[in-house]
Amino acid sequence: MLNVEKIRADFDVLNPESPAKAPVYLDSACMSLKPRQVVEAMNDYYANYPACAGRSSHKLGDKVTKKVKKARELVTEFINAKSDDEIIFTRNTTEGINLLANSLGLQKGDIVLISDKEHNSNLVPWLRLRDKIGIVVRICPTNEDGTFNLDNFSQLVSGAKLVSVVHTSNLDGVTNPAKEIIKIAHQAGALVALDAAQSIPHKKVDVRDLDVDFLAFSGHKMLGPTGTGVFYGKLELLEKLSPFLVGGDTVESTSYDSYKMLPAPEKFEAGLQDYAGIIGLGEAVKYLSQFDFKYIAEHEFKLNAYITNELQKIPKIKIIGPEDPKLRSGIVNFYIDGTDMHKFAVMLDEMAGIEIRSGRHCVHSWFENKKIYNSARVSLYLYNMMEDAETFITNLKKILEIL
Ligand SMILES: Cc1ncc(COP(=O)(O)O)c(C=O)c1O
Repeated sequence: MLNVEKIRADFDVLNPESPAKAPVYLDSACMSLKPRQVVEAMNDYYANYPACAGRSSHKLGDKVTKKVKKARELVTEFINAKSDDEIIFTRNTTEGINLLANSLGLQKGDIVLISDKEHNSNLVPWLRLRDKIGIVVRICPTNEDGTFNLDNFSQLVSGAKLVSVVHTSNLDGVTNPAKEIIKIAHQAGALVALDAAQSIPHKKVDVRDLDVDFLAFSGHKMLGPTGTGVFYGKLELLEKLSPFLVGGDTVESTSYDSYKMLPAPEKFEAGLQDYAGIIGLGEAVKYLSQFDFKYIAEHEFKLNAYITNELQKIPKIKIIGPEDPKLRSGIVNFYIDGTDMHKFAVMLDEMAGIEIRSGRHCVHSWFENKKIYNSARVSLYLYNMMEDAETFITNLKKILEIL
């Protein structure tokens, strides 16, 4: 079991001087809170050794190099990659997917298969390549309740060069059957990339067990610093990718008319990096690794089940995704036909400091297709308490009465 009280003590934002001012934070799918350990690791860098990694051979530089190396090792172990060289630090999931889209060497006519529930980060890069060079973007329809349809997938994967799908959806919390998807795709000769932005913070992701070719995630959704992320690729595939950002730190040597690229991961990490962020991300990995993900999932389910059950008693509220909260990770995304859910979110914050997200959650394509205007999304994490869920429901009911 999780000791939520103890966990909450690590998050300063949840412990203001006046307890009445503590937010009821239910927006972790957008941005997770940061434990003190992460903040302190970053402050330590800025205060005590704010130098370059890998370039300058002085004491401060050596310390940064060692800390960045350690962070890479921690990430390698966290996702069970084979080698540290498979871990590329990025700014976020979006950058990881763009790196792939612009480095894979896709050509006119190549087919990329995605699902109909992708975040814009895993839709726009492919549509743009379609418009620029003429790749074909195929969309795999999911079931009515948002769960993955392996039959549709098996039919559509034929001829695809790459499958790029979300692992856990930020729209409805559904986790796609990654292992089956990857197996089927490999049998069909396609490579597979997973958008793991919402899975990595909540469940054990083992890249070798999945046999996934590429994986992108963000540090800021897993207790890490804002603007940090990771792109993983099997080393033999990374060796073949041609980086789209080049310059300092990506090359072994240059002359006025030639350059020799470094191997992965250096060839993908152009210029000076966000060392404080990378070190903080390593600390977030360390922090998360102390918990068994099974207990995080159980805890989120308990809160999700309570909220789902209460919302299901209100006839006009519709929950996006499967009815069963077990299938929705820590996410409860809901709407009322014909209602702008943004005003619910604003009122919840004004009335009781309850912070949720409203809008189209960067999955505009899905909302357009379903003709749903927008929704309000609660997203839970390991620091949320049952009281948060109860406060949310109590205030939501008050708003429904007012409106
Ligand atoms: C499923 C999913 N994919 C991709 C992203 C993009 O993440 P980032 O903005 O950190 O690049 C998000 C962010 O909400 C997400 O939820």
